[in-house]
Amino acid sequence: MDSSLDVSLDRLSSEPLSAQIAGNLRLAIRAGRLAPGARLPSWRDLAARLGVGRGTVRSAYERLIDERLVVAAGAAGTRVAAQPARTESAAAPAPALNAPLSGLLHDFSAPPLPFEMGVPAQDAFPAKLWSRLRARALRTGAMSPVTYPDPRGAAALRSQLASYLAIARGIHCVPDQIVLTAGYRGGLGLTLAALQLAGRTAWIEEPGYMVTRTGLQLAGLRAVPIPVDAHGLDVERGLALAPEAALAVVTPGQQAPTGVPLSPARRQALLRWAARAQAWIVEDDYLSELQLQGRAAPALAATDRHGRVIHIGTFSKTMSPALGLGFVVAPLPLAERFAEVAGCLAPAPNLATQLAFAEFMAEGHYLRHLRHMKALYAQRRDALRGLLRTLLDSRPGPQADVDAMAGLAVRLRLPPHCDDRAIAAEAVRRGIAPSSVSRWYADPGRHPQQRGLLLGVTNLSEARLEPACDTLMALLAEMR
Ligand SMILES: Cc1ncc(COP(=O)(O)O)c(C=O)c1O
Repeated sequence: MDSSLDVSLDRLSSEPLSAQIAGNLRLAIRAGRLAPGARLPSWRDLAARLGVGRGTVRSAYERLIDERLVVAAGAAGTRVAAQPARTESAAAPAPALNAPLSGLLHDFSAPPLPFEMGVPAQDAFPAKLWSRLRARALRTGAMSPVTYPDPRGAAALRSQLASYLAIARGIHCVPDQIVLTAGYRGGLGLTLAALQLAGRTAWIEEPGYMVTRTGLQLAGLRAVPIPVDAHGLDVERGLALAPEAALAVVTPGQQAPTGVPLSPARRQALLRWAARAQAWIVEDDYLSELQLQGRAAPALAATDRHGRVIHIGTFSKTMSPALGLGFVVAPLPLAERFAEVAGCLAPAPNLATQLAFAEFMAEGHYLRHLRHMKALYAQRRDALRGLLRTLLDSRPGPQADVDAMAGLAVRLRLPPHCDDRAIAAEAVRRGIAPSSVSRWYADPGRHPQQRGLLLGVTNLSEARLEPACDTLMALLAEMR
């Protein structure tokens, strides 16, 4: 039963059952658990669920109608009134709770603002094709047996992925090493549940993805930031700062947020450390092949000879975070354990999405889409860099400098010690959403030189580019 409709009856009480049912529903409505407009079950359904006569439920509903808490809407059933009559005791305001990931994502319901990082181009999502494939997958799903699907995910998609990973990322695995997840975060949760490392230490990149940092802490690990330089994570510093680590979480393809790939020497050093220390490496391959300069390097898992790398992929950047789809490739000796954890704690997400995505890959649309995104983002990045340079040269105002690419963003360097977080917060109020560089540091106070803004290029259509840059320049000039 819907938990907002938990009706508990005391059959030994002298209070009539219809009064008890009305009392339960009254409380749920006044507490907001039953929202205005919500449909109540039919007399027959609720009577069957509670094991009482229909007349009993009917008289409870009639009582609530008299109190104007619910309305009878003919064929549309009985609904909670749009504005249920409130009593004083119901007037207590609901507590204001913070949404998750606050400070990272400013509004879950709004479309992305210019410069916002982490969201793919809205105008390039293949909406028509995707809705056709999903409609087909939904029909197939509705007609298939009503049973538990494989918690590792649909075999069709796992086998498409195994082929794709061999070609695109150099990973040779069997489909049974793959578990479909709710994006990278779902994959990280699955991995942490499988590895059971609570109480142990993990290396994280500094700067690095704040969700990983918080995620590890929530799972009971001690996350130690290890500096990243022009070659990626500094393994020697890791050994010096936290020699006891049992895990390293890295973004070897394109470090988040600096964009530097982990150099071949560092890759070898990291793999050697993991083999020697019997530690694990989580490879966060969030951008996969979506690399704007040249060809993406093979995955770290491709050269893992000792089965220490857990590779996590996601379609949040290449397709859409709204898909909520990603995957984990477990080393062969761990594959059964990962499957068991998926079965008990983290089953693969929505089957229709998986089946539609398997078709999308099988028909060659995914590779085409990736090629299109690469070209589009490279063009948007060049346009942004060009315009910023012109604006910075022509206006003596802001002390800023266009810097290297950082994944799918351009970095604008700001003077050391400046409050880039305050600038980013003010920017959102003005309708643009750059990310402050210091937000990506676990300990920004130790890196006062690293101040700036990361400007996501994915959603900078031609029409948005100039106004967004003008707003940014005006803001920087004021903040000087
Ligand atoms: C470093 C990094 N990893 C992973 C992700 C994607 O996570 P998810 O697949 O959970 O959306 C992001 C998104 O911004 C990211 O920046």
